[in-house]
Amino acid sequence: MKIKSFDEYKQVYQQSVEQPEQFWAGIADNFLWRKKWDKVLDWNFKEPNIKWFQGAKLNITENCLDRHLETLGDKPAIIWEPNDPQENHRILTYRQLHDKVCEFANVLKNNGAKKGDRICIYMPMVPELAIAVLACARIGAIHSVVFGGFSAQSIADRINDAACNIVITADGGYRGTKEIPLKSIIDDALVQCPSIQRVIVLTRSRTPVSMIKGRDVWWEDEIKKVETQGNTACTAEEMDAEDMLFILYTSGSTGKPKGVVHTCGGYMVYTGYTFANAFQYNQGEVYFCTADIGWITGHSYIAYGPLSQGATTVLFEGIPSWPTPGRFWDIVEKYKVNILYTAPTAIRSLMSFGDEALQGKDFSSLKKLGSVGEPINEEAWHWFDEKIGHKQCPIVDTWWQTETGGFMISPIAGVTPTKPGYATLPLPGVQPVLVDENGKIIEGNGVSGNLCIRFPWPGMLRTTYGDHNRCRTTYFATYENLYFTGDGCLRDEDGYYRITGRVDDVLNVSGHRIGTAEVENAINMHSSVVESAVVGYPHDIKGQGIYAFVVCPKHHADDDLTRKDIMMTVSRIIGAIAKPDKIQFVTGLPKTRSGKIMRRILRKIAEGDTSNLGDTSTLLDPAVVEEIKAGAL
Ligand code: WTA
Repeated sequence: MKIKSFDEYKQVYQQSVEQPEQFWAGIADNFLWRKKWDKVLDWNFKEPNIKWFQGAKLNITENCLDRHLETLGDKPAIIWEPNDPQENHRILTYRQLHDKVCEFANVLKNNGAKKGDRICIYMPMVPELAIAVLACARIGAIHSVVFGGFSAQSIADRINDAACNIVITADGGYRGTKEIPLKSIIDDALVQCPSIQRVIVLTRSRTPVSMIKGRDVWWEDEIKKVETQGNTACTAEEMDAEDMLFILYTSGSTGKPKGVVHTCGGYMVYTGYTFANAFQYNQGEVYFCTADIGWITGHSYIAYGPLSQGATTVLFEGIPSWPTPGRFWDIVEKYKVNILYTAPTAIRSLMSFGDEALQGKDFSSLKKLGSVGEPINEEAWHWFDEKIGHKQCPIVDTWWQTETGGFMISPIAGVTPTKPGYATLPLPGVQPVLVDENGKIIEGNGVSGNLCIRFPWPGMLRTTYGDHNRCRTTYFATYENLYFTGDGCLRDEDGYYRITGRVDDVLNVSGHRIGTAEVENAINMHSSVVESAVVGYPHDIKGQGIYAFVVCPKHHADDDLTRKDIMMTVSRIIGAIAKPDKIQFVTGLPKTRSGKIMRRILRKIAEGDTSNLGDTSTLLDPAVVEEIKAGAL
């Protein structure tokens, strides 16, 4: 399954385009199936209707756990590093992880979970989070993990959208010096969630929590029950390749976040294949992905991808800057990490602490580096290359999305020649195209356009939960017969791809996807706000910051206090990650005569570039632009 040279890459790539079904069948043969497929692929991008490996039967956890037991049973599957370096770390071998997943799968069954149920997981980065995810997959329940930084309202929206019946959470979680009262946030959410019958609560911080009779149970008590019943083995549920594996909510340019749906067979094949190739994982290597399991990167490249390949994956509970800005490097040294996969925003933030944080750290175990989440600027790329990789480690800049399930355009470590700031070339099986505004495919090199994919790949989303039409209109209706990514992209003279950022109204703040419409809706909930417009602006550390123009005529005399109130409103409605960095009060927004907000103008002002605002003559009230320019922050 692993490509070993650039020549081989070119040849395999060609084959994957000419005979995609044969290519993917060959990759899929590397996995464990209860029954093989009748048909490799059935598809159209019109509805869309995408089916991979139809008729095949499997359980992804047998691929991630059972099949490794004989040869890798005593090898570490998960190395857990706690938030506080004084606390003991934990290592779970493949056998231990297998046993714990089976036990907890039985806990889920004892609590009424069945195949097809939706289960919401809101947990800190502890091994039990991975155990909970895998236990759902073991019994065929569909997990919906919600990142620990989302508010009660956001959780409630997600639970209700999927009508989840169980929540798995913890009393609290740690991030740096902060303690997050997870159960209490869940309690606030559940006031609005009639479908929830059971809440399973892990003990982590032992912060006081309310446990409601008949609804809430402790994780540890439930495990004991399973043990005393002698009910610790759990045969994996047989799943169809196209059965749902999980839902993960992500932001788009309009309305509420949508539930991206991934299915068992294709997602397994795709995450395993891309992990093995891009990182050229070799048995025995220690792999550390710094993402959170609450995002797609954690799903695909902390949990499923590495585990299906029998890798050792490091799970870190804390943050890069606590207790010192050298924390990542301490972890690299402590576990002799060979592969480090992180995000440009983390790199830039660690750069800002200067070289002192690197002093005396041992980077010698590192062999390969990776980056994900946003375009990596050249300065950060070089720093990563020189200071962390000591020019000895290839950097794989992996471009992909929640919707793609796994890496799409990415170097293969040590195989693809890299170029700073470039995601380089598509992996075999991926067929990117650039299109102009009219959807015409742009051929040749040295060109820019909107990035689309013209042929299905096994890891792609199948639908958006409960609203297939939304999936069609968001991804498949902009350009006929193409999947539209929402990203702008350059293909240089060598045919190398460089992602230039979103071309829709989606922000990328510290690698987190946030819809401008979502933030505007939250700001508009504040009682004295009439309307608002949100745009992104370049931010040294976060990549993009959130700039809000707010019409708030009757606001409190104290601007700063009102700003804080608005921030608090956004925190409550979405979560702290969506708080605007800047709020400018304005008397009106620049609008066309038809009432459309001219974001182009606001974006320029937010960027501090007011020299050329373009044609403002079509505005309803051109004077407002002058006022906004004068008051810009
Ligand atoms: C951006 C995260 C440039 C892009 C895996 C995409 C990137 C969005 C890269 C998806 C990269 C991700 N270079 N841009 N290597 N990786 N992006 O769904 O705009 O959270 O559309 O998935 O992040 O974000 P998501």
